[in-house]
Amino acid sequence: MKKPKIVSKHVPVLTSDFSSLIPSISGIWIDGTFGSGGYSRVLLESGAEKVIAIDIDPDVLPIAERFEEIWPGMFKILTGNFCEMSELVAGLGIRNITGIVLDLGISSMHVDISTRGFSIKNDGPLDMRMSKEGPSACDFINYASETLISEVLLKYGEERHAKAIAKQIVSVRSETPIESTHQLASLIEKVLGTGSTLRIHPATRSFQAIRVAINNELQNLIQGLISGYHLLNVGGLFAVISFHSLEDRIVKRFFNLRTNSESALNELKRIGGNSEPLFEKLNKRPIVADAQELFQNPRSRPAKLRIVKKISDGYVKIRPESLGLPNVSSSLREFQCG
Ligand SMILES: C[S@@+](CC[C@H](N)C(=O)[O-])C[C@H]1O[C@@H](n2cnc3c(N)ncnc32)[C@H](O)[C@@H]1O
Repeated sequence: MKKPKIVSKHVPVLTSDFSSLIPSISGIWIDGTFGSGGYSRVLLESGAEKVIAIDIDPDVLPIAERFEEIWPGMFKILTGNFCEMSELVAGLGIRNITGIVLDLGISSMHVDISTRGFSIKNDGPLDMRMSKEGPSACDFINYASETLISEVLLKYGEERHAKAIAKQIVSVRSETPIESTHQLASLIEKVLGTGSTLRIHPATRSFQAIRVAINNELQNLIQGLISGYHLLNVGGLFAVISFHSLEDRIVKRFFNLRTNSESALNELKRIGGNSEPLFEKLNKRPIVADAQELFQNPRSRPAKLRIVKKISDGYVKIRPESLGLPNVSSSLREFQCG
């Protein structure tokens, strides 16, 4: 019998490249970023015995429930953070993980539903919390110090005008709270100008930075990579789709790691020894969208897919900065959710 189609607005990216790099899918997979299930669907339709899906956003549950109906016993959804995937999966008593996929960031549903507060285009409350819990973007923008706002915009958004934007935020909020996405976007637009040469909205980098900061996205990514590495069988596959250079740098460096801690690695290098790589690459260069996918789904433009195979079971102890995690003041902690 033909499986019924699930209607969703999020178009998953690079799924055909994923499928052609992994022609025979089997065993138990983790989809650590379920969203509307594009990757879970590909896995279930291509031979996975079981998919354990994780998403930090409780709003994906109605879609996941449909998956549980369509693939009874083969699909399980867990609400949680993929940085704790080992613990979440251990709670199910499942071992022998054959593959993990992480399709990072936010989904189209986050952007399209204005009340979630991620959208520059559709006005909504300044929220941006994927988990719907903890401090929001509004708390950060209205209560963080000018220095912290500037640091976040610069380091998480690579926004060159971070200082000027932070100064304007602090000046405006002393008169009136900044509570909506349009208020913030137009404030930034006033500082930077609309510049007809800009391909993206002038507030895009700042919105990305604030979202990454309050959802603790980069630290979660590092913990998720470590947790996933420990969970995977030797021979298992780890696929990650990243959407900006900060994420991709972390993924690339992690996939290039070797066994032993960094200090041990340096010691070994000094005495001319060697250590084993953790992974073998399936694709030497990251996969990006081709012209057809770019045309059909412009959101795929920044996406990069890297897939590796775990080849050794080692001890991973790393300093997050060595993977490229920007060093941001610890006072950010009080504004992070999830
Ligand atoms: C780009 S979307 C994934 C789209 C999905 N692959 C699809 O085809 O529909 C990213 C999803 O991951 C979730 N997410 C982001 N960070 C997460 C984290 N640390 N732990 C669990 N879920 C996370 C978001 O809530 C969002 O639903």
